[in-house]
Amino acid sequence: MTETIGFCQETRPESCAFVLFGATGDLAGRKILPALFGLCKKGLAPRNFYILLAARTPLSRPELERRLSELMARACPGAPPEAVTDFLGRVDYLRADYESGEFYRALGARLDELDAKHGIKKKRLFYLAIPPAAFGKVTDGLGDSGLLAEPGDRGGWSRLIIEKPYGSSLERACAVDAGLKKDAAESQIYRIDHFTGKETVQNVLALRAANSVFDETWNNRYIDHVQITVFEELGLEGRADLFENLGLARDMMSHILQLAAITAMDLPSSFRDTDFKTEKRRFFESIPERERTAAAADAVRAQYEGYRQEPGVAANSGVETFLAFRFFVDNDRWRGVPFYVRAGKKTGAKCTRISLVYRKPEHGIFRGMDIGYPNIFTFNIHPDEDMSFSLIAKHPGPRLCFVPKTMRMDYPERAGETAAPTDYERLLIEAMAGDQTLFLSSFEMQFLWQFLSPLLAAWQADPYGGALYSYTPGTSGPPQAAALIERDGRAWV
Ligand SMILES: NC(=O)c1ccc[n+]([C@@H]2O[C@H](COP(=O)([O-])OP(=O)(O)OC[C@H]3O[C@@H](n4cnc5c(N)ncnc54)[C@H](OP(=O)(O)O)[C@@H]3O)[C@@H](O)[C@H]2O)c1
Repeated sequence: MTETIGFCQETRPESCAFVLFGATGDLAGRKILPALFGLCKKGLAPRNFYILLAARTPLSRPELERRLSELMARACPGAPPEAVTDFLGRVDYLRADYESGEFYRALGARLDELDAKHGIKKKRLFYLAIPPAAFGKVTDGLGDSGLLAEPGDRGGWSRLIIEKPYGSSLERACAVDAGLKKDAAESQIYRIDHFTGKETVQNVLALRAANSVFDETWNNRYIDHVQITVFEELGLEGRADLFENLGLARDMMSHILQLAAITAMDLPSSFRDTDFKTEKRRFFESIPERERTAAAADAVRAQYEGYRQEPGVAANSGVETFLAFRFFVDNDRWRGVPFYVRAGKKTGAKCTRISLVYRKPEHGIFRGMDIGYPNIFTFNIHPDEDMSFSLIAKHPGPRLCFVPKTMRMDYPERAGETAAPTDYERLLIEAMAGDQTLFLSSFEMQFLWQFLSPLLAAWQADPYGGALYSYTPGTSGPPQAAALIERDGRAWV
């Protein structure tokens, strides 16, 4: 294990009950149940902890155990059998009927019973892994039956976790939010974007805060532009029904905005969630409507060749699988620095990357000479986890000429740190600890839609028109995405 130095902070989850609605679904099976199992297996779960799964599908105990065992074998191959047994011992199942008051009474009674068994005092995390249209019904049921404890209630706490993106427009998203807030306070609502839980995303902030050599130069005096790339090698992975209603912009924009904010927001005065959210909000407020409209006006939207032949996709689908755009941030730190973004499916190797491209030398002996961009700081977020800093050095030998050199820092030096949490595991720990730092506020959810709305409005006006370009799978998107940045005299790195 790498030795740490100085400041060290650890979030400790409180003993609690974890209630998972929609436990038979895709998200539950692929992400949440494996994360819960991971927490238990790594010893990161709270000491007193149980999981109550709820869904409308009737499941007997043997059937539940068979499903969970298969799921664990798939998600964590090679997990010790005793870890699976321990996990199954913490899990219970309740068949749900979200419309009926009887269900919430039965839920309350089962929770009281399990609380007593596990020595827990009404500390409850409710994960809504169900379609957003059903959120209101469930939170109303929880609220009416008194299962959503008031914030500050000394007898316990209740928190709701929900997944982005919800709603299909700013108005619909606000309506879903209003439904949630009817029953719960903002301090009880944890909106997940799992990118914020990634180890390497956390490192962006840590690196800025701990190394003044970087943060002091992350401004329009030194940085020429910023690039964010979110590429996926795969296409639909059997989720055509979801993606056809979503499109890439809605699917990815929250991740993109979170990466931009964590890279470019002013550093908070502490890692407390209130300070953090204040700075993040200030960053988003520095992208006013005129900048969002300008970003939408020349955004490049494309679909990969063969998308319409994918199973479950409409033969005339106008849904985008690629997006590129440029935006500006109107604050003292970033005014005049373009942020270029591209994201797509079937765009070559999977890669999430942030690059800060420094200005070329403007003074001194090399002013006016083109020696390329001397410095590019790159964070590889996923699946590669590293940081690199490119420099221009003198070519060894008798002549004075230049070679690019790259300093690379591998991040996963934590190889010995077997207990390192995954993104979902970390976010569940934070929610159990009552820390909202890594979760999206109501403001951020609204801002997401304010950013998306002009893009979507322009496309809805002409969904099948020339505005939808096409690209060959395995490439970096359509030529128009290259043109977007090249017209400014720059290139994707
Ligand atoms: N899947 C992902 O990767 C992903 C990614 C981003 C966001 N999300 C969000 O995460 C949540 C869950 O996604 P998912 O893909 O797991 O959804 P899903 O598979 O469509 O649904 C999850 C479960 O919810 C239950 N359900 C379906 N319709 C319902 C209704 N009208 N009322 C109450 N329960 C209903 C079903 O279980 P029973 O019939 O057994 O009750 C189903 O197994 C959604 O809010 C989605 O937007 C998912």
